[in-house]
Amino acid sequence: MKIDQDLIRKFEEQLDPQNIEASGIPAKLVGFGEISSIIALQDLPGMVLKRMPMFPDVASAENYLNTYREYCSLLNAAGLKLPADDTAIIKKSERLTVLYFAQQKFLPEQIGNKVLKSLEKAELEQFIERVIAAIYSVWRFNKSQDKYQLAIDAQISNWAYVVDKNELYYIDTSTPLFKIDGIEQLDPELILTSAPSFGRAIIRKFFLADVMNRYYDEKSVNVDLVANLYKEKLANLVPLFIEKINERSSGKLTEEEVAAYYKEDNFIWALFLSLRKIDRWLHTYLYRKQYQFILPGKIER
Ligand SMILES: Nc1ncnc2c1ncn2[C@@H]1O[C@H](COP(=O)(O)OP(=O)(O)OP(=O)(O)O)[C@@H](O)[C@H]1O
Ligand SMILES: [Mg+2]
Repeated sequence: MKIDQDLIRKFEEQLDPQNIEASGIPAKLVGFGEISSIIALQDLPGMVLKRMPMFPDVASAENYLNTYREYCSLLNAAGLKLPADDTAIIKKSERLTVLYFAQQKFLPEQIGNKVLKSLEKAELEQFIERVIAAIYSVWRFNKSQDKYQLAIDAQISNWAYVVDKNELYYIDTSTPLFKIDGIEQLDPELILTSAPSFGRAIIRKFFLADVMNRYYDEKSVNVDLVANLYKEKLANLVPLFIEKINERSSGKLTEEEVAAYYKEDNFIWALFLSLRKIDRWLHTYLYRKQYQFILPGKIER
C-alpha cells in the first residue's frame, strides 16, 4: 500500500487539530485513540490515517517508525495478521514533527466492538475464540525464544474481523510496545507528551508502573479485554468471554476481578483525559498556542 505523501503534507499544513472535519481537504474523524486520532480522507479511499503529533524532530519520528516496523514484523512472526500500511513523516515546524500511519480501512461493522453486536451465537463464539487464540499466539511466541517480548493491547476495538473470510486482523499497531533483551523499545516519555506537563508526574507514575506493563502479562491482558466490555456496553458477553478465556489460561478469571479492575482503570483514564482537557484550555486561552491533540468528548463509562 502506498500513500500520496504530498496529499498528507497538504492535509497537515492546513489542519486545525481541534476541527479536523472543517479542514480544506475533506476529512472525517473515524475513531479516537488514547494517543492518535483516526482520520479518513476523501482523497484516500480505502485507507485511514493515524496522526501522531508528538515528535520534536524528524530523527525521533524516524526512530519511532523503525520501532513500529520491527514491532509489526514480530507480530507477524507471532502469527498475527496486520492490515496493509504505509507511513509519512511531516515536519510541521522547528519544534513539531508529525508521524502518520496509513492503514487499510475496515468498515465500521468489521471493528471488534461492532462485530460483537451483530453476530449470531455460532459466529460470535468463533470470533471470540479467534481473538483469544491470537492473544495466546503472542504469549507462545514470547516463550519460544529469549530475545523478544511482545506486548499486546487486546481490547476488542483493536481487532477487525472479516466475517465471510473468517479473517482476523490486529489494528492497534501504532504504539509499538516490546522489549529486546529485557529493554523496553517504546520511549514512554513520547507517549507522555500527549499528557499535560503539570500532570506528567502523576501520569508517569500510573503509566509506567501499571498501564505499560500490563500489556506484557497474560492475566492482565485477559482482565483488560473483558473489563473493556463494560465500557462497550457489552456486559452481557462477560460470562462468555470468561468461559472461553478459562479454557486456555492457567489461572482462572472471575467476574469479580474484572469488575474491580474496571473501576480502577476508569479512574486512571478519566484522570488522564481531564488533565488533557485542562491542558488544552491552557494552550488555547493562556499560552495562545495550537493544541495538537484531538480529544474525545465525554466518554460514557
Ligand atoms: N484500519 C481501520 N479501519 C477502520 N477503523 C479503524 C481502523 N483503525 C482504527 N479504527 C478505528 O479507530 C479506533 C481506534 O484505533 P486504534 O486502536 O488504532 O487507536 P488507539 O486505540 O488510539 O491506539 P493507540 O492508543 O495505540 O494510539 C478503532 O477502535 C476503530 O474504531
Ligand atoms: Mg485501540
